[in-house]
Amino acid sequence: MVTAVATLAIAAVTLLGPLEHSLRNAEKVTLSKELNAGTVRAFAALPLDLVESDVVARTELRRRVTALQRRTGASVYVLAAPVAGSTAVHSLLPAIDDGDTFGDVIQAYRTRRTVRSFGQLDGTEVAREAIPFTARDHRRYVLAVRKPIGEIPGAVHAVSRAFLYAALAGLALSLILGIPLSARLVRRLRRLRETALKLTDAVAGVEVPVDRVHDEVGDLSRALATMQDRLGSQEQARREFVSTASHELRTPLASLEGMLELLRDDLKDDHPDLQDARALVERAHAQARRLGRLAADLLDLSRIDAHVQLRSEPVELSELSRAVLAEFELGTERNALVSTLRDADTAVWALGDPSAVAQILRILLDNAVRVGPPGSEIAVTLGREPAIALSVSDQGPGVPEDEREVIFERFHRGSNTAGQAGFGLGLAIGRELAQRMGGELVLEDRIGPGATFTLRLPAAPAPEQDPLAVA
Ligand SMILES: Nc1ncnc2c1ncn2[C@@H]1O[C@H](COP(=O)(O)OP(=O)(O)OP(=O)(O)O)[C@@H](O)[C@H]1O
Ligand SMILES: [Mg+2]
Repeated sequence: MVTAVATLAIAAVTLLGPLEHSLRNAEKVTLSKELNAGTVRAFAALPLDLVESDVVARTELRRRVTALQRRTGASVYVLAAPVAGSTAVHSLLPAIDDGDTFGDVIQAYRTRRTVRSFGQLDGTEVAREAIPFTARDHRRYVLAVRKPIGEIPGAVHAVSRAFLYAALAGLALSLILGIPLSARLVRRLRRLRETALKLTDAVAGVEVPVDRVHDEVGDLSRALATMQDRLGSQEQARREFVSTASHELRTPLASLEGMLELLRDDLKDDHPDLQDARALVERAHAQARRLGRLAADLLDLSRIDAHVQLRSEPVELSELSRAVLAEFELGTERNALVSTLRDADTAVWALGDPSAVAQILRILLDNAVRVGPPGSEIAVTLGREPAIALSVSDQGPGVPEDEREVIFERFHRGSNTAGQAGFGLGLAIGRELAQRMGGELVLEDRIGPGATFTLRLPAAPAPEQDPLAVA
């Protein structure tokens, strides 16, 4: 509204002044054109010195004056030179109008030049022209013409009235359109603000208003709905994670507590059953180890969720695999498994975080050792083409088709691990670590007994010095 009115006001100020000025000038120019040299010559040719005494001369002058008045629509005077030293002018014809001071006529006499100006006559604005000329009698006279320009202020007034009406119409229109529009906009924004405030308290259960209008506020509302959706699913995942994690913690803790109670009861006896007590301690120890592993896995997941930065440096996979396999020697021997490292004669350089790569290999070997039947082989194979790859194959039961992807989800365990300890976190941690290093961890699509998991990583150029860094 303010803009509309201000625009019209500025336009009025910048237009009306110059308009009036140019209209006046146009009027002046028109008058000058009407009073051409021929007009003045016609007056100069008259016997002006006889006007006072000769009726014929006077009639002739009156005829010319009247003709000129008709042609120009102006008042016309023929004035004789003022008496020396005086400013009073004497009109030959017609009688001088009292309101006219004839300042321009005096100036024209003095300067001997035509004087064009504006003046007021009886409250009417006039364009004045005073043209000096010398008549047949060698005396000087002035032809004075006064043309009313009353229609110019009228025209300017009409234009300014048009501006005023336009301003009022613009104001009314902007009020009629603007008030409902801005009220609607404010209502929509207020609704969004209230929703955003509610969302800060609780994500679930808050209804984000559906805004189908295709404008910025509509976009904002849809973005808020998407944000609520995402926050909702994140919140859901967090709740599920916390409840599953606490359930997983409670089970071994309860069994640990039960075992310790049994042990305490056993030891109250003066002659405790030592064999039973040893077995209980052994089982309690296993549960404590299980809890320790779960705590470590949860810590890994929280680091992944917190986006703790992984290193990105050349990692030599042959040496790293050798070192990690050595850690599993005891486990493989106990299960009568044979572990082999294939295609590791030359160095294989990948880009990644050494400790994360080692952790993924441990996760894969841990699974393979669990499922591998006694006497079977666990093979770690290094690949260079088409990408840098590290595969762990076993001869266990393999993974059923419908579980191929879910086994990579947090707390998801497959059907073929019944009876085996575990939380279903290993592969989830492994896949997220691999992705954070710009690689992937997949279950190979392979027919035959056993399963092959492959870690693929970006290749790295071999550094000049072998760092032999093993996590
Ligand atoms: N080599 C394998 N052969 C057959 N199935 C496997 C193999 N590795 C993993 N799985 C299946 O994938 C599931 C998920 O494995 P993951 O390592 O994530 O969890 P887990 O071994 O059960 O427990 P955790 O590793 O947390 O101790 C396992 O429960 C198992 O069913
Ligand atoms: Mg595992």
